[in-house]
Amino acid sequence: MPTPSRKNDSQARACAHAVNEILWTTLAYGRPTDRALNAFLRANKQYGSRDRRLTSHMVFAVLRWWGWLARLAPRPFQDALKRVGANPDSYQQRPEPAPQGDSRAWSQILLGAHVLENSHRPDIARVWAGHIQRRSPKPFTEDDALPFRARELAKRLGVNLAGLREGQLVPKWAAAEIPHSLPKGETLSWLQRRPPVWLRAQTDAVPKLLVQLRKAELEPERHAQMARAIRIGHPRTNLRTLDSFRKGAFEVQDLASQVVAHVCAPKPGQRWWDACAGAGGKTLHLADLMQSKGTVLATDIRTRKLEDLRKRARRAGFSNIQCREWRGDAVSRKRATFDGILVDAPCTCSGTWRRNPDGRWTTSLRDVTEMAERQLGLLTSAATGLRSGGIIVYATCSMFAQENTGVVEAFLAKHAAFALDPFTDPLTGKNCDGTRLIAPWEGDCDTMFVARFRHSG
Ligand SMILES: C[S@@+](CC[C@H](N)C(=O)[O-])C[C@H]1O[C@@H](n2cnc3c(N)ncnc32)[C@H](O)[C@@H]1O
Repeated sequence: MPTPSRKNDSQARACAHAVNEILWTTLAYGRPTDRALNAFLRANKQYGSRDRRLTSHMVFAVLRWWGWLARLAPRPFQDALKRVGANPDSYQQRPEPAPQGDSRAWSQILLGAHVLENSHRPDIARVWAGHIQRRSPKPFTEDDALPFRARELAKRLGVNLAGLREGQLVPKWAAAEIPHSLPKGETLSWLQRRPPVWLRAQTDAVPKLLVQLRKAELEPERHAQMARAIRIGHPRTNLRTLDSFRKGAFEVQDLASQVVAHVCAPKPGQRWWDACAGAGGKTLHLADLMQSKGTVLATDIRTRKLEDLRKRARRAGFSNIQCREWRGDAVSRKRATFDGILVDAPCTCSGTWRRNPDGRWTTSLRDVTEMAERQLGLLTSAATGLRSGGIIVYATCSMFAQENTGVVEAFLAKHAAFALDPFTDPLTGKNCDGTRLIAPWEGDCDTMFVARFRHSG
């Protein structure tokens, strides 16, 4: 076996150490991985840009396959995880340092994630293989089906991993909650694919933007049906440094998320309310579709998020967005003046488990049920702001029926003045009966649910 260079060896070890720590903070204390990753890198300034890129890539790859790889974790890590996991208050506690153990176990886990995802650093994978006295095994291809990988993985890693099944890639309760409209095998296989990045052009000059993106060594592909949606694969470029970004010519936004504002279909001059606007991904899209004419009121319980929205609106040059705090209360009757309302509700985000695989391991069935209650409350309160005959759109990035059709049915049961409002599906151009669940294979995107209601007026 060739001896790795000192640089590669130290990079491989640094990545294994970081993955151990970040996984611990996420799995034992429920911290979102992107935040745990940032906190780790802030505290470990010795990690250079290549270390950071490798660590960030691998930590998400490991979490995507954690349902299979967890059994390879060092025993002290597994035992401590069980102890902390049994304590419902652990999410409120300050994370303790990760339990250590045989560091070769992390090399094995990282090698496993590399083989499963064919990660971009085969040179580093060779070092992890060296740590466990093996040659680096052949990675799987994207076309290798999950049952085949489940059978082959143990052989390729030279370990005992009997009885792997595709259903283990998410918690048992989650596999049972996948709705019938999403075939289980296909859904699980898509959850394992690293998602591409999508942009939403925020300019009429899309061909010019495409030229600028190509100059930046990106390979933009325009969506056939949604002409302003641009797929750029897995870019290495920092998009925020591009001139076109600074000038507000595009926003990063998943394809499925871009469908939502099109379902709202606001008209120039109207009054819209984006009730759960967050940092305003969909607010900006609504304002764009309204050609800056009329108003969009953007509200959220987290006013800090609205600050981000204000910056983004300035960058894009939209002057018709107003931001305000909203805590989910009903609106007084005299203020029920909106032509349209969007409730992009807080949810379990299970539809984004491709890109945020940590959510699979930090969400519980109780969260789904609690979310559904909260969502119905927000939709009910927001609906009080609608003018007679107006439109209200409800959206989640969850795949679970409780949060989607469950909320729609409960809302309709209590609101006789509302009915589902059919629309043309922006993704396919086909007619929809008023609800739509977008599957990841329909556009290499997140799963997203959207429902459109009309007030009978
Ligand atoms: C799915 S996110 C919104 C994402 C945003 N629309 C976008 O496209 O970027 C849901 C938002 O609902 C907000 N939220 C949660 N509870 C709320 C409440 N009671 N009142 C208002 N907003 C709430 C959260 O702060 C979060 O920003």
